[in-house]
Amino acid sequence: MQKDKLKQKLAQYLGNRENIFFHYKGRVSLYAILKAMGIGEGDEVIIPSYTCVVVPNPIIYAGAKPVYVDIDPATYNINTDLLEKAITSKTKVIVCQNTYGLSSGVEQIIDIAKKHKLYTIEDCTHGFGGQYNEQPNGTYCDASFFSMQWNKPFSSGVGGFALINNPSLLEPMRQLEAEKIPVSLREKMNLKILYFIHRYLLTHFTYFTFVKLYRWLSKHNMVVGSSSGEEISSIKKPKGFFKDYSNVQAKEALRNLKGFDDVLLKRKKNARVYTDFLLGTGKNHVSLDLFDNHAFLKYPLRVNDRDRFFHLAEKANIPLGDWFVSPIHPVQQDLSSWYFDAENYPVAVEMAKKVVNLSTDTRTTEKLIQFLKKYIDLIADTNRA
Ligand SMILES: Cc1ncc(COP(=O)(O)O)c(C=O)c1O
Repeated sequence: MQKDKLKQKLAQYLGNRENIFFHYKGRVSLYAILKAMGIGEGDEVIIPSYTCVVVPNPIIYAGAKPVYVDIDPATYNINTDLLEKAITSKTKVIVCQNTYGLSSGVEQIIDIAKKHKLYTIEDCTHGFGGQYNEQPNGTYCDASFFSMQWNKPFSSGVGGFALINNPSLLEPMRQLEAEKIPVSLREKMNLKILYFIHRYLLTHFTYFTFVKLYRWLSKHNMVVGSSSGEEISSIKKPKGFFKDYSNVQAKEALRNLKGFDDVLLKRKKNARVYTDFLLGTGKNHVSLDLFDNHAFLKYPLRVNDRDRFFHLAEKANIPLGDWFVSPIHPVQQDLSSWYFDAENYPVAVEMAKKVVNLSTDTRTTEKLIQFLKKYIDLIADTNRA
């Protein structure tokens, strides 16, 4: 079975831990973990105020309320100084996040959680393969979840898994396995076509055309996509949400994991090139203190006129990432349905206005560095949000 093989392979990256449960997407793994923790009506779950909408969604689907904590602009993760203020008698869980592959403050978060007898979950959807204090991401908290969506550390098109570190959660996780909806034949075929396009037709020259087409099709639910239109526009649990992971996906994941170590090295090396360049020019950068052993899935850079910066990059044929264009990415309308009041999270709001993501898995950084040099005035200075 491809899924068993994948489990063994993943365990090698996760400190030989094998308590892995597969799901259709990372967000489904988060939902399963919350269910296994018994989270429901009246509970509160703390998450960073700079995240993807598919993080608060499963919390709401479980009947609980997401409570946000503003982020630290240096790390893009929860500002641990603000964490205790957000804890109430209803709080049950704290979620920390390896945003862009950077992990930080994990032990402070765990200490605070222990003090208040709360569960912890690590959102490692950007952080597979990274380490924090010489321990693999995902192995610190009671449970963690990972994504195998396109653009993630390694991919099976869509896919996710939960890693369970707290043994008391194992039995409820096993019971939930029986509730998973199988992946349909149509979805498997759809995925196979996308693998083909990704492997053979998606090149540097076709990138922008395919990305635009895929986003449009996915938004209109015409292709197996990362987020359906309804996940972005409402808090209603989509039909068939609690879905399994198929062997078709596991086969693709195994294939892509083969080159993973080389890609990870490249990401770390390129991230260092970006920091060295930006440091030398006095512009904002990921601090060298954060160069522990992170996954560097993307390199965040704050710019002053993002729309213009994107336009110029597209003209120069330079792919830039747009995580996160909103504190609850990618929702740009009113965020109150997700219990988010922008006034309370000024740092996240500011970051969501300014951040673009540089690719870290490129063969050479030269073209991008030349582009950054040319438009250096558009890049925000160090220490200014
Ligand atoms: C921070 C964060 N958490 C969770 C997820 C969910 O991952 P998936 O798309 O596999 O459900 C994403 C997705 O892109 C994400 O960016």
